[in-house]
Amino acid sequence: MGGKEGIKKITDTFVALITSDPRIKESFNDFDIPQLNQRLQEQFCEFAGGPCKYSGKYRDKTMDGVGTVRDMKSVHIDLKITNAQFNALAEDLQIAMEQHGVPSSVSNKLIAKLAPMQRDIVTASPGVQSKPDMGKFLATGGVSQLEGAGGGGLTPWALITGYGSRDSWAANAHYTHVKTQDYSLGTYGVAVGVGDRLELSLARQDFKGSLAPLNALQIKQDIVGLKVRLLGDAVYEQDVWVPQVAVGIMYKKNKGIGGLGALGVTSVTQLGAKDDSGYDYYVSATKVLFEQSLLVNGTLRATKANQMGILGFGGDQGDHAKLMPEVSVAYLINRKLALGAEYRHKPHNLGVDPEKAYYDAFVAWFPTRNVSVTAAYAHLGEITVFNKKKQKGWYLSVQTGF
Ligand code: HEM
Repeated sequence: MGGKEGIKKITDTFVALITSDPRIKESFNDFDIPQLNQRLQEQFCEFAGGPCKYSGKYRDKTMDGVGTVRDMKSVHIDLKITNAQFNALAEDLQIAMEQHGVPSSVSNKLIAKLAPMQRDIVTASPGVQSKPDMGKFLATGGVSQLEGAGGGGLTPWALITGYGSRDSWAANAHYTHVKTQDYSLGTYGVAVGVGDRLELSLARQDFKGSLAPLNALQIKQDIVGLKVRLLGDAVYEQDVWVPQVAVGIMYKKNKGIGGLGALGVTSVTQLGAKDDSGYDYYVSATKVLFEQSLLVNGTLRATKANQMGILGFGGDQGDHAKLMPEVSVAYLINRKLALGAEYRHKPHNLGVDPEKAYYDAFVAWFPTRNVSVTAAYAHLGEITVFNKKKQKGWYLSVQTGF
């Protein structure tokens, strides 16, 4: 962080940012800002490996010489700080470090030390307010995955979609387009996250063929998703290994096959699928490892969906829900940019579809909390025996929300 001199410069910028940030500036109105600046420098220096120490001498304009108070809880308790305020301050610190050229891998290490202080510093009683607070860290709502849930591109994560903190809610809409050599898939939908606890999503998938004789092929599917965070916090709990864990369910209804009327095929059941609707159940575990600038997610899904349900559910090769692992890893290049890869295992139930795993490499950009753009190169494997080509191509997704 540039030694004592560097820390002083960063802290000066940081203090200027927090005392002018409309999200938190009022909290600092009645306090001795030069003293706060001094204490923060000591604390950051201690966290950066010393040799300075946070002296924690508590003094303000009216209570001169009360004594030494080092714990963050007593320093902040009267302020009734919310999660959104805590995150705003941490973001200002990231911005201050960015402005002074501190590499993201270094600033993330400091954030890793500060994040667990949330337990002591956030003492406002939780309560869901009617206005969206956009209170979470940038990128920690994930993006919208192909079935509409908050997560990566292919797989749901334990993160609740959007930027509503535990005291608020958030909503977003997305459009995703995947184009391989012979097929395209468009997904659009809306999702709501409530209290950073519950997520509801609605999505429609529109799958099309472009190679004769499947050039008029069109299959639509609707998906309703529900996710509940059970335990853990992917962001704050940097000092324990426990990840954030959520469970989810997706109800999928295949709307039938268009464009194959001449062959008399109008339903996925005519291809051998046992059903045109079904449920996926999943458990996801997500952890942001600030020390390593990584986000990791593992999902286990019980499903009998063929190609996510686009080719129906179950078939001549099997009609039982099978447990399928899905994995995502993302490197947080900076506050706004993540680079990663995903893998999603899938069942093989249909004789006419040699279904394979999906995988991709992606870059996700979060210019603001209102919009994110994800681009990926995806491998979707072979899709039906009628076209034995490995399908791969570009994936582009835009999410916008409040
Ligand atoms: C990671 C988060 C935070 C850290 C590491 C932190 C650190 C500190 C430190 C070291 C002090 C100086 C205490 C002393 O005089 O010895 C302090 C005081 C203060 N902090 Fe924080 N703080 C955090 C979050 C917040 C937030 C979110 C707010 C409000 C939005 C806030 C508002 C204040 C105020 C107003 C004081 C002055 C208190 C006083 O002098 O009595 N802090 N903080």
